Amino acid sequence: MKNGEKVVVTGGAGFIGTNLCHRLLCDGHEVLLYDNLSRKGSEKNLQWLTSTHGLSLQVKIADVRDRAALREALKGADRVYHFAAQVAVTKSLDDPLFDFDVNLRGTVNVLEAIRDQKTPPFLLFTSTNKVYGRLNDLQLVEDRLRYSIADDSFEGIGEKRLLDFHSPYGCSKGGADQYVVDYARTYGIPATVFRMSCIYGPHQFGNEDQGWVAHLLFRAIEGSPVTVYGDGRQVRDLLFIDDLVEAFLLAYSHKDLCAGEAFTIGGGPRRTMSLLELIESIKSLHGATPPVTFAQWRTGDQKYYVSDVSKFQKLTGWEIKTGTSEGVSKLYRWIVESRIKETALNETRERIL
Ligand SMILES: NC(=O)c1ccc[n+]([C@@H]2O[C@H](COP(=O)([O-])OP(=O)(O)OC[C@H]3O[C@@H](n4cnc5c(N)ncnc54)[C@H](O)[C@@H]3O)[C@@H](O)[C@H]2O)c1
Repeated sequence: MKNGEKVVVTGGAGFIGTNLCHRLLCDGHEVLLYDNLSRKGSEKNLQWLTSTHGLSLQVKIADVRDRAALREALKGADRVYHFAAQVAVTKSLDDPLFDFDVNLRGTVNVLEAIRDQKTPPFLLFTSTNKVYGRLNDLQLVEDRLRYSIADDSFEGIGEKRLLDFHSPYGCSKGGADQYVVDYARTYGIPATVFRMSCIYGPHQFGNEDQGWVAHLLFRAIEGSPVTVYGDGRQVRDLLFIDDLVEAFLLAYSHKDLCAGEAFTIGGGPRRTMSLLELIESIKSLHGATPPVTFAQWRTGDQKYYVSDVSKFQKLTGWEIKTGTSEGVSKLYRWIVESRIKETALNETRERIL
């Protein structure tokens, strides 16, 4: 049963988009997924969504750089989640113009398509922790498997932290982040920004460039080697996808409070992990770790990033439910099960052909 709301999700076949589209469709919304399927794995996510939800899901295969297609897709929307992006720092270093076009111009295209409408829909834009730069001023202690923060009273990086874009990706996402906040201020569009740390969960096709939790698990399961850039002690707060999806819904239900605001969103100080710690925990989950080699630190990589999520929690009552070991086990099980299904499907195909 439809409840009359039209929701557009750009990047809807990506990791985060797939999980949000699934939830919205389960809740009875009319969903239009807008994606150019450039991310490896996005076609599998789309296949899964269409086989799960059938014709309730509308699909537009198009690019956010295509202004006419975007304008048409966003017409009459009640809310828009804008996730479509060039998502890797590495790729942005190789091709800054492409990164600029997709992330910054693409977001302004979304904003313009929204501004055009008589009743502008709610917009949520996913920005990144990279807008806070390298955070070299944090006093860190080096432990065996991780960096820790020397100051016991540290509650994480919050919205009051000065913006300090680092890398073309940091600049394009940070620029887009500021455009979204300003369109809310200047044109009165009900728009919100989430500056997100590390998100992980099912439907994530992580690779060396982005999505490290899923990437390391995939590699361990395949038994193939991984390269760790830096010393592996770098720490992130991890947020499981189901908790993020709840936050997306809460941002909409509190849109009057959230409009024009940016929020740092992640697992917070109680859900942190380093690369080396993840590799250790893979050993207990999977029985073996992938072979690891180390390489130079990558540009803009933060040694320690943990979000202070209290502003969003106070405003909306958001609670984070999934701990890191539970979340990592869920992602591990999803990867194993989807590989089993894929192998069975391939075997059936071979038998039939
Ligand atoms: N996953 C994380 O940990 C994380 C952290 C911070 C911010 N983000 C942001 O969240 C958003 C979603 O991330 P994700 O992890 O789901 O990434 P993803 O790569 O899985 O999803 C992005 C989707 O956008 C599509 N896309 C890419 N370029 C496009 C274009 N030009 N036009 C239309 N579609 C296009 C891709 O095909 C893909 O399906 C991105 O904006 C990303 O920068 C993610």
